Amino acid sequence: MPGQDNDRGQWSSKLGFIFAAAGSAIGLGNIWRFPYVTGLNGGAAFVFVYLLCVLVIGLPYLYAELALGRAIQKNPVGAISSLRPKSGWIWVGGLGIVTGLFILSYYAVIAGWTFGYIFKMMIPNELSFGNFVANPLLVSILFSVFMLLTILVVYGGVQGGIEKWAKILMPILFVLLIALIVYSNLLPGSSRGLSFYLKPDFSKINGSVILAALGQAFFSLSLGMGLMVTYGSYISKSDNLISSGIYVALADTAIAIMSGLIIFPALFAMNQDPAAGPGLVFNVFPAIFKNMPFGIFVGVIFFILLSIAALTSTISLLEVPTAFLVDEKGVARKIAVWIVGIIVFVLGIPSALSQGAVGWLSKPIINGMEFLSLMDFIWGNLSLAFGAFLLSIFVGWVWGAKHAAKELAMGNPGFVRWAPVWGFLIRFICPITIFIILLNLFKIF
Ligand code: TRP
Repeated sequence: MPGQDNDRGQWSSKLGFIFAAAGSAIGLGNIWRFPYVTGLNGGAAFVFVYLLCVLVIGLPYLYAELALGRAIQKNPVGAISSLRPKSGWIWVGGLGIVTGLFILSYYAVIAGWTFGYIFKMMIPNELSFGNFVANPLLVSILFSVFMLLTILVVYGGVQGGIEKWAKILMPILFVLLIALIVYSNLLPGSSRGLSFYLKPDFSKINGSVILAALGQAFFSLSLGMGLMVTYGSYISKSDNLISSGIYVALADTAIAIMSGLIIFPALFAMNQDPAAGPGLVFNVFPAIFKNMPFGIFVGVIFFILLSIAALTSTISLLEVPTAFLVDEKGVARKIAVWIVGIIVFVLGIPSALSQGAVGWLSKPIINGMEFLSLMDFIWGNLSLAFGAFLLSIFVGWVWGAKHAAKELAMGNPGFVRWAPVWGFLIRFICPITIFIILLNLFKIF
C-alpha cells in the first residue's frame, strides 16, 4: 500500500474512510452548534438556507478537498506546495493549519463540558449550566482531560486510533437520537416547536442569516481548512470518492436535522427561549432527561456518546497540524502530536475561562460575543469560509478543475459525465457565492 512504509498510514478500507470522515464531520457542530445557531437565526428559514449551502457549495467543495488530498497524498500545505512550489498559495494551506489549531482550542473546551455532564447526570445536583461553566477549576480540568484524550488517540495513528472508535460508536448515537426524537415529539405542546423548526418564514432571511448558514455548513462538514485534504490523502486510489462524499454529507446532515427534531419540540413544550445561544443544548437535554423514565441512564449514555462524537472531531482537528509537522518538517508522529497538543492547550485557556470564570474574558468584546463566541465566529465561521473561497479557486483554476475531475473519476468512471457540472460549481458558483456572502459581513459590523 502506498504511504504505508513511512509515517503516514492509510485507511484500511473505503468504509474506514467513510466512518472516519463522518466521525470528523459529526460532532458538537451537529448537536450543540446547529440547534443553537438555528434558534438564534429564526428557525426553519435558516434550516432551508443551510440545506441549500450543503448541497450547492458544501458537497462540490468537499470533492475539491478530497481530490486534492488523494491526488497528492499530503497535508494541505504539502499538497499545495507540490503543485505550486514557493508560491503564495502555500499560505492558504498555512491558514488552514492555523484555523485548525484555533478551532480545536475552543472546541475542546466545549467537549470538556460535555464530558463533565456525564458525571453531572450521574450525581444528583442543582448546579445550573451557568454556574457549571463559570467554575474555573472545573472547566480547566475538563478541558485538560479532553485534550489529553485527543492526544492519546491521535498518538495511536490513523487506523488504530481514529477508525476504530468511529465505527463502533456512531451507529449507537444514531439509534439513541431516533428514540429521543420520538420521546420529544410526544411531549404535550411540542408541535409548535416542530413548526418553528420546519415551517420556513422566508422574510427572516438576510445577510447575516445566510453567512451563519454557510459557516455552519462548512463547520459541520469539516470543510475549509484542509481536513478533507488530509483525510483524502489516506484514501486508496481505487476507492470511489463521489459516493463516499455523499455518504459523509448525508450522515452529517441527518444527524444535525435529527438533533433539531429533539431540541425544538422539547424546548417549546417546556416554554423555553429558542434564541438562548450556546447554552441551549446543555439546558434543554438535561431538562428532557429529568422527566423521562430511566432519565438518568439515558442522560449518561447521551453525554457519553456526545463526548465520543466530539472526540472523533477533535482527533481530526489535531490530525491536520500533526500531519503537517510529520510530512513537511520531518518530525516524528509521536512528538508532533505533543507539540500541537500543547500549543492548542495554551490557546484554549482564555476560551475555557470566558464563560464567567474570569470577568474581563467573559465580557462581550464585539457584537455581544465574549471570547469563546468570538473565536467561534472568527475561526469556525469566517476563516473556514475564506479558506474555502481560496481553496476552491486553487483547485478550480490553479491546479485545474480538469485534473481534479480526473482524480474524482478514478474509482467512479461515470463521473466523467458530471465533470463539467462540477467544474462549473467549483470554478464559479463556490468562489463567487462565498465572496458575496463574505462581503455582506461589512454591513453586519
Ligand atoms: N465538523 C465537526 C463538528 O461538526 C467539527 C470539526 C472537526 C471541524 N474537524 C473540523 C470543523 C475541521 C472544521 C474543520 O463538530
